[in-house]
Amino acid sequence: MNFERENIRRMAGYASGEQPDNELTIKLNTNENPYPPSPQVSEVLSQFNPESLRRYPPATAQKFRQLAAELHGLDLKNVIATRGGDELLRLVITTFVDPGEKIGMTDPTYSLYPVLAQIQDCPIVEVPLLDDWTLPGEFARSMNDAKVKLTFLVNPHAPTGALLPIDQISNLASELNSILLLDEAYVDFVDHSYQTSQLVKQHNNLVILRTLSKGYSLAGLRFGYGLADHSLIEPMLTKTRDSYNLDLISQLVAEAAIADQDYVRGNWQKVIIERNRLKAQLHELGILCADSQANFLLATIPESINFGAADLYQKLKERHILVRYFNADRLDDKLRISVGTKEENNQLLSTLREILNQS
Ligand SMILES: Cc1ncc(COP(=O)(O)O)c(C=O)c1O
Repeated sequence: MNFERENIRRMAGYASGEQPDNELTIKLNTNENPYPPSPQVSEVLSQFNPESLRRYPPATAQKFRQLAAELHGLDLKNVIATRGGDELLRLVITTFVDPGEKIGMTDPTYSLYPVLAQIQDCPIVEVPLLDDWTLPGEFARSMNDAKVKLTFLVNPHAPTGALLPIDQISNLASELNSILLLDEAYVDFVDHSYQTSQLVKQHNNLVILRTLSKGYSLAGLRFGYGLADHSLIEPMLTKTRDSYNLDLISQLVAEAAIADQDYVRGNWQKVIIERNRLKAQLHELGILCADSQANFLLATIPESINFGAADLYQKLKERHILVRYFNADRLDDKLRISVGTKEENNQLLSTLREILNQS
């Protein structure tokens, strides 16, 4: 007997990032931050009293939400805290999209979106990005014509790192008949001042996703948040969120991390400098990268090299360096490389030189 729903039986599920099989591996495959979290995080953990676990945690993470609201110049009622950005994606779908209604996205995009759509039994509408990875001019019209209920956009885009101008996002939110979920998982690494949060005051169909996984070096914590008009936040906060979705330890750590802006901003700057240096050095090896405003580079492996991206991924892995290879249309000649520390990037570059010289 198989008790799975028909749509669940049909689907494959999300493939989580590859984990290294030894301590020495340089892990540049899942866009984690190469620097440690704020020292305030260690402070909170070392002071933590297990006795406080006897009680349930604050149900809506009000203290964290207040800090996030202040950071973004919004009100408490504009913020929801979630178990990673991923929980917000799931909440937006289960709160606003009926099974059978359509969910729109670009191709390529974050590979979890189609999986979450399949779980809700929602057809997917995909619009291919242009050759330079920008959005086609008719994107909003295509979504409206297809009667899409929810549109996902990653900004900066994954896996390319391309950034949308703020006025383009505002225009899209105005044009779209759907909710627009703007996924800003990587926005902390944009190399100039860039803040979209005020757009939620103008567009009551816009949800902005943020995460502490990347910019705050806390992927292992599982903490993210959403910014939106109160009318979108309220049903998720009071009806569809799991009761006590965030444990006490996570809340205390997240509060300490988001309060220490000076520390994280220093890390973001280091990542940006390394991203730009790595891109220039890869260019010298004949490996061109798309313009990225994220903490990763999408590198095209040129035909002049005797083997393709899949082989290069394998050769790097044999030398204990993990990068991401996508076996997908338009991406199968590319590798996505997360920006590491200076030492890790240098190790990657010298290993690449050695491999290329042998080819
Ligand atoms: C584009 C994008 N959105 C959202 C997330 C979710 O991150 P998390 O659930 O760790 O907050 C990720 C994680 O890799 C991502 O790449």
